[in-house]
Amino acid sequence: MSNAVAEAPADNPANESGIQSFLVTFIVRRFDPEVDAEPRWVDYDVELYATDRVLDALHKIKWEVDGSLSFRRSCAHGICGSDAMRINGRNRLACKTLIKDLDISKPIYVEAIKGLPLEKDLIVDMEPFFASYREIQPFLIANSTPEKDKERVQSIADRAIYDDTTKCILCAACTSSCPVFWTDGQYFGPAAIVNAHRFIFDSRDDAADVRLDILNDKEGVWRCRTTFNCTEACPRGIEVTKAIAEVKQAVLRGGR
Ligand code: SF4
Ligand code: FES
Repeated sequence: MSNAVAEAPADNPANESGIQSFLVTFIVRRFDPEVDAEPRWVDYDVELYATDRVLDALHKIKWEVDGSLSFRRSCAHGICGSDAMRINGRNRLACKTLIKDLDISKPIYVEAIKGLPLEKDLIVDMEPFFASYREIQPFLIANSTPEKDKERVQSIADRAIYDDTTKCILCAACTSSCPVFWTDGQYFGPAAIVNAHRFIFDSRDDAADVRLDILNDKEGVWRCRTTFNCTEACPRGIEVTKAIAEVKQAVLRGGR
C-alpha cells in the first residue's frame, strides 16, 4: 500500500511546531434508525498528523463537525476491543490504525463491522456475538479442589499450548470478517471457538469434553471453511484459523 504522507497537500503546511499536517477525506457510513431508511455515506475532510489514528479522526469529526456521529471506544490503546470497524474494507481497530499506514491520497472508507445488527452509525448490536461466547462456557471448570493455600500447578509447556488464545480481547473483528457468519447468523464464529480453545487446552480444566460436544454441532467448528479472513483480521495477531483447526482435531480425537 502506498504511503501518501510524504506528499502533503500544499494547503496544509507545517504548523508552528514544524509538524506537517494533512487534509484527509473520510467517507463514513452513517445510519440513524430514527431518520434513515437505509445507511448513507457522508464525507468529512479532517486535518490530521501522520501519528494520528483513525480513532483520532473520528474524535475530530464528532467533537468539531458533527456530534451525532456514534461509535464505541474506551481504552484507545488496543486493549478493550470496543472499536473494531471496517476501514477501507478490512476489519481493524480504529485506535490501532495509523493514518501514516493508509493511502491518504484517496478517501478512507469507514463503516460498521458486518454480520451483526446495525444500531447506529459504527455501532452494532454485539449481543449475538456475546451469546455465542457465553455458550462455550468461557471460564475455568475444575472438579478437584487445590490443596489449602496452594495454586493449581501447571507446567510452562502446558501453559504454552493455549498461550495464543489467551490474547483475545473480544473485539469481534474475526467473527464479523467471516463469510460463513455473514450468511449464517447461527454459526458460533471464530471468536467463540478461540475462547473455547483457551479452556479446552488448559490442563487445569475438566470440561474440555463439554465444550467439544457443544462445538461438534452443525453450527460449530465444522462450519469453518478455512478462509483465513479471521486470522488476517485479528488485531492481536492470534492464529485464529489454526486454533479452530486444533479444536476440530480435538473433536475428532474425542478430547484434548
Ligand atoms: S480472536 Fe482476535 S479478532 Fe477475534 S475477537 Fe479475539 S482479538 Fe478480536
Ligand atoms: S478503544 Fe479499546 S481497543 Fe480500541
